[in-house]
This record gives sequence, C-alpha cells and structure tokens, in this order.
Amino acid sequence: MEQLHVGRPNIGDRGRFLARLNDILDQRWLTNRGEYVIELERRIAQRVGVRNCVLVANGTIGLELLIRALGLGGEVIVPAFTFVATAHALQWQEITPVFADIDPETHCLDPRSVETAITPRTTGIIGVHLWGRPCAIDELAKIAGRHNLKLMFDAAHAFGCSYGERMIGSFGEGEVFSFHATKIVNAFEGGAIVTDNDELADRLRLMQNFGFRGYDRVVYLGINGKMSEVSAAMALTNLESLEAFVERNRANYFAYARHLADLPGMALVRYDESHHSNYQYVVTVVNDDSALTRDELVTVLHAENVMARRYFHPGVHRMEPYRSYFPDAHRLLPCTEQVCRQVLVLPTGPALSEEDVAGVCGVIRAALKHGPAVRERLARREHPNP
Ligand SMILES: Cc1ncc(COP(=O)(O)O)c(C=O)c1O
Repeated sequence: MEQLHVGRPNIGDRGRFLARLNDILDQRWLTNRGEYVIELERRIAQRVGVRNCVLVANGTIGLELLIRALGLGGEVIVPAFTFVATAHALQWQEITPVFADIDPETHCLDPRSVETAITPRTTGIIGVHLWGRPCAIDELAKIAGRHNLKLMFDAAHAFGCSYGERMIGSFGEGEVFSFHATKIVNAFEGGAIVTDNDELADRLRLMQNFGFRGYDRVVYLGINGKMSEVSAAMALTNLESLEAFVERNRANYFAYARHLADLPGMALVRYDESHHSNYQYVVTVVNDDSALTRDELVTVLHAENVMARRYFHPGVHRMEPYRSYFPDAHRLLPCTEQVCRQVLVLPTGPALSEEDVAGVCGVIRAALKHGPAVRERLARREHPNP
C-alpha cells in the first residue's frame, strides 16, 4: 500500500496559486498587509460572521497575542488533551496553565472539571474545539460569566465548523484558527484571530506589527506576528476548494464508519450532525475490549504503510515543563489519561480514496481478528531470541 498519512497537506488549484504568486512577485509587495492579506481577512470575517479578522504568522502566535491582548494573567484553565501550543502560549508569557479534564464523549473541556479548577488567581478559560467539534460553549460561557473570567477559544482544528447554525470563530472574546500545513485550509504556516470586538482587534493589529501605527509611530508593545502575502495567497486558493476538501473528508469519514461498524474493541468518534464539520480528523478509540492495545495497533499499521497517529500522547500535563511543575496533575485528569492511551487517528483527506479507506480498515480488522498471534509476533520482534 502507498504510504497513507494523517494531515497530508491539501493543495487547492495549483494554477490559481501560481498566478497569485506571479502577481505578488510582479508587484514586489511581499508582506506588511498587502492586498492578499487584506482580501483574506475580508473573506474570513465574512465567512465566520464576525466584524474582525487579524491574520497572523501561525496559530500559536495568534493564541499568544489574544491571551496578552485580553490581559490574562495568573492562572488560565485549559485542557491537557490538546496540542502543546495551547499551554505553551500561556506559559511562554509566565501565565500558569491549569489543566481541567475532558468529556469522554466530545474530548473537549468538561465544564464540571473547569468549575472545580477555578481559584482566586484564575483570569480566564481557553476552550479547544478539538477535532473541529464545538466545546460546551454555552456552559463555559455561563461559568465565565459567573466568575468574571475571560473566555476565548483555540479553534485551530475548527475552520469551516459550526455550533448549530453559528460558525465557530464567533464565540467568546475571540477565537484563533490555525492555517498550518496539516489543517483543512493551509497557508503553509498561518493563523487568524477573529473577534467582534473592534477595540480588541485594533490592539491585536498593533501588537502583531511591533506596535506601529503608521510609518514611524510606535504606540504599543508589539512583536512580529505578520502573515506574508504568499501565505495569504495559498490560504485564499485553499479557501476556494474548502467545500471540495470537506466533501472528500466527509465521504472518507462515512466509509470508515461503514467499514469499522461492529468491530469489537474499536469505536469511531462520531460527529454530531447538528453542527457543520470539516471532517478533517477520523478519530477512533481503541478500548479495553480490543484484542490489541492502541500502541500495538499503531505498530501494525505503520508496518503496513498506514501512518496512523496517537494524538497528543502522552497528554500536555505529562510533557515538559508541565510534568515537572505539576507532577500530580494526572490524578485530577482520569478521562484525559484514558483518552491519551486510547485515541488513534486514521489517515484521511483528499489524497485518500474510499478504496484506501477500505484497505486501512482491512488491515485493522485482520490485526484485531488475529490479535493474540499478532501480539506474539510483535513481542518476538521486540525481544528476538539470541
Ligand atoms: C489545537 C491546536 N492548537 C494550536 C495549534 C498551533 O497552531 P500553529 O501550528 O499554526 O502554530 C495547533 C496546531 O498546529 C493545534 O492543533
């Protein structure tokens, strides 16, 4: 089987991208808010239904800027089942991430756990719309309101997704998308902060460009978080193919659902059809009834050229520096611990056909059917006889 990947970059219409690239080179306007960045900001704000979009160099700096512009400090509550950037964006500016547990169904923050993590030092909550599935937005907003906390969202996975009929990107004080190469819309590297708050957006624009207001006038502390014109051109081109990408992902997801139905020990994490999804992630849970552990299954799949991935393993709370700062964090995170042990993300994307999906599922089915024999062979590979 040809090697199949999770998060293989989506490439939109190559001709259109190259035409835009030529135009950028002809105009010699490479960065500093040229026409492609302005156009992309306009299109994203319109699509999400918010007043402001501030494009940035990547999602991580978008998180850092929004955290800072909101004046967060002390402690901020985040999940530990997320990409490490969610926590790093806080710790980088010496704000303490406090890890709350997740809901085992949605893999997003469990509001009850958030509530118990609040202390007098808490200033905010960052929900992560993991896998493009919306957090418990209403419950988190209620908690934030009751305790006078700022609520923002890491929407890195959720471009093109909705909460009911309202697009992700329009909730909380602001939300951050990632346009990293592996995301549904990519800008090679890139991100966007979206918000309805004009004053906040104005501050973010200053901060993202060294605090410049006009040519020589620096009026605020800032950093370089700008997106380049080439990145914006790539994202614009990808955006034009978004519906086609989602359609392929959706077809693959339902093909996986058919092929994996009734497989003992493995469950596909379902998308709630009352929300729009980009179906970018095919997430499975290899539970305790499985004939092989998640890690054994990963080894088998890799040997068959299926580069399935354990996501967020072993959990941000078990990565440095958090592991040293909070050695006992795992005791308060039973669902996070379990999901980190069991989640397996399977390849999808426009590069994958439904036949490929059938092939991946065939490998999984065969491996689980012959679980004890496979386990024995794996053990022999690990400890060959002298
Ligand atoms: C949940 C989450 N948050 C933040 C990021 C960081 O985004 P970027 O890679 O664009 O900096 C990513 C992915 O890359 C992510 O998956």
